[in-house]
Amino acid sequence: MKIFIETYGCQMNVSDSGKIVQLFADLNYQLTTESRAADLIIINTCSVREKPELKLFSALGRYIPLKRKRPELVIAVGGCVAQQWGEQLLERCPGLDIVFGTHQLDTLPELVSSVRDSRKAVSSTAFRMAPGGLEVMARPQPQAVSAMVTIMQGCDNFCSYCIVPHVRGREYSRPSPAIIEEVSRLADAGIKEVMLLGQNVNSYGLKEPGEISFAQLLGRVNEIEGIERIRFTTSHPKDMSDELIAAFASLSKLCPSLHLPLQAGSDTVLKRMGRRYTAASYLEKVAKLREIVPDVALTTDIIVGFPGESEDDFQQTLKMLEKVGYDQIYSFKYSSRPGTKAADYEDMISDDEKRERLARCQALQDSISQRLLKAQVGKVSEVLVTGPSKRGAGEWSGRTRESRIVNFSKPSSPEVEIVVGGLYKVSIIKALKHSLKGEVVADGNP
Ligand code: 5AD
Ligand code: SF4
Repeated sequence: MKIFIETYGCQMNVSDSGKIVQLFADLNYQLTTESRAADLIIINTCSVREKPELKLFSALGRYIPLKRKRPELVIAVGGCVAQQWGEQLLERCPGLDIVFGTHQLDTLPELVSSVRDSRKAVSSTAFRMAPGGLEVMARPQPQAVSAMVTIMQGCDNFCSYCIVPHVRGREYSRPSPAIIEEVSRLADAGIKEVMLLGQNVNSYGLKEPGEISFAQLLGRVNEIEGIERIRFTTSHPKDMSDELIAAFASLSKLCPSLHLPLQAGSDTVLKRMGRRYTAASYLEKVAKLREIVPDVALTTDIIVGFPGESEDDFQQTLKMLEKVGYDQIYSFKYSSRPGTKAADYEDMISDDEKRERLARCQALQDSISQRLLKAQVGKVSEVLVTGPSKRGAGEWSGRTRESRIVNFSKPSSPEVEIVVGGLYKVSIIKALKHSLKGEVVADGNP
């Protein structure tokens, strides 16, 4: 049997898709990249904005007709769109067999076999105390250097624009021993870098009596032999504790890079978004962190054109980009999500205005990103090699501890052997648009 899977949206979805593939690999399914050869097609969806949501319908338009030639084909839709629309998706899309929610990942094999037996479409979107499937451990890809480990799921924050709490459910933290075991297994399989994942990792464990804090969890992961680098995403600025900031100084493997979603720079907009911090308190946290880790690289998420955002509010966002100096931003036009509080707000901004603000925001950020990349030239960075460079030409590719991409060559003399997963000292010689170019320094052996 062959399984084909298409994934939209965030890293959590990518990680969930890995778990789904693992569940079916245990049932002797093989992964295929050819939808036409598949016995089971799965679409793992995202509803954070309208655009990824619409992708589902064009995908179904491509895959459902495949059933004419392969009547045995089973098509399943999971993830956030599935959670939100449930049964209604089955009604809207004849030919779709399964809708499975964000807590039902582990029941998918049963759903597939029930459809095979009865040829009746099913929808399963109940929330559970603990989302099913979190304990499925996907085997890392051969040659993989990094792996994602989900430590918590769901969100209790209910920012007014955001669909996530509605479709992922309440915060649930995995027991820390299970997380440590998973990271240890990954280390044994040769993984060097772990990305700890959750919608709001800073509040890890707070709801589970007796559970360790997120900073303590990082401490435990730091002790695991073989793991060289630890990263995490996503953080909420209001929950960036002093304990967590201090961890950046005390934990040798915790990388100096942090994704800290700002969303907007105006306090009025932040309040209406329900973010529970101000531009000033955000800047204070950044200053505290930079005092401890001066070279920390920051990235962020920005929403432009939130309902009621004035030109002056928008200018505050641009000011924050300048003040913080992010390496990179992920910026989006506000997209109204049915069922969220902001969907009922007045003063919607026109699409033209949103587009224009987005362009200005991105143009400013391009110049900031370029300035920060150029400031790296002449420095020597530790690079974890992820593989040969896409450009070929005998170059290698990897990331610095700050998560900057470096493509580098090796000196012909003295001979240095490059291995994937190795750490090398690389001298940065040039800044390109989104990456750096470098050369291994003579004593760059791992
Ligand atoms: N419209 C636009 N962007 C959104 N995000 C979340 N909800 C919306 C929305 N309704 C963005 C936020 C979040 C990122 C994952 O997606 O910036 O941090
Ligand atoms: Fe959405 Fe806010 Fe929760 Fe992030 S913290 S997932 S933006 S509700």
